[in-house]
Amino acid sequence: ASVQILGCDFSGGQGKAGVDQGPSQLIQAGLQKQIAQLGWNVGYEGNERYERIVQEFAGKDADIGQMKNPRTVNAVARSVADRVEAISKAGDLPLTLGGDHSLGLGTVTGTLRSHPSAGVIWVDAHADINTPLTTDSGNLHGCPVSFLMGLEGCDVAPFNEWVQPLLKPEGIVYIGLRDIDVEERKILKENNIKCFSMHHVDKYGIGRVVDMALDHLNGNSGRRDRPIHLSFDVDGLDPSVAPSTGTPVRGGLTFREGHYICETLHETGCLVAVDIMEVNPSLMEQRDAEATVAVGCSLARSALGETLL
Ligand code: ARG
Ligand code: MN
Ligand code: MN
Ligand code: MN
Repeated sequence: ASVQILGCDFSGGQGKAGVDQGPSQLIQAGLQKQIAQLGWNVGYEGNERYERIVQEFAGKDADIGQMKNPRTVNAVARSVADRVEAISKAGDLPLTLGGDHSLGLGTVTGTLRSHPSAGVIWVDAHADINTPLTTDSGNLHGCPVSFLMGLEGCDVAPFNEWVQPLLKPEGIVYIGLRDIDVEERKILKENNIKCFSMHHVDKYGIGRVVDMALDHLNGNSGRRDRPIHLSFDVDGLDPSVAPSTGTPVRGGLTFREGHYICETLHETGCLVAVDIMEVNPSLMEQRDAEATVAVGCSLARSALGETLL
């Protein structure tokens, strides 16, 4: 079995520098070797092609409507989608390291091209389901899910050159939500999207939440065989656990709750792709950055089976 690590040194989906240093820091911390020690063959591909894209549009990427850096985000996500699709179709598991969460448009597209029936578990403080019409910040890391679903306002250039509405509202479940914009709330309700906010984690405990999330994705088939894409934004964790991230929100998942999600999804045997997003080692103190990088590595290891005997 093989894992292909895709390092996406990209920050254009939001405004803070440094999130593009996440992948190299995770790799420097030894992630590739750690995964190899779990018994996987591990490949790694870096950021060269994304750097080229960023340079190509430098100084020539004016806002389109509210959207910031639309051409760059578009081209990077498109390239990521092609790579994730190819890795997945080769039978390997793509592990994408961000970089900001606008990359999720690419990773989930790649997975759904390879596994059209896959469901998504999106662990995040945020729903990332703004549209070009609803976003206040203009940051595209707040919008990938709406593009994946083809919601109103998402049929815009340059994204409509390649983005297909491959994700159905019933094909995603959120865990960890606690900072949702007014219009996102409407979108989530109108589309009847399954959300486990921190309130639900408190109420039911993480064990039942993950169980209910898997039941939701698998319907009442009685089987649990739907392929799963895990997109983990480290800001889903509490800032005391993952402080070095661009949009921290207090009241998040504990260290164990975050790892429990990863372990349980590994245990299903149905994980087909994993994203570890929004690690920004340039924020906060050095020791915070180290802790955030370390937790990014250990989430990835848990999703790849570390804690199961
Ligand atoms: N909802 C806010 C926005 O649209 C914050 C999004 C944060 N997203 C993230 N991937 N950290 O700007
Ligand atoms: Mn987030
Ligand atoms: Mn708004
Ligand atoms: Mn996110």
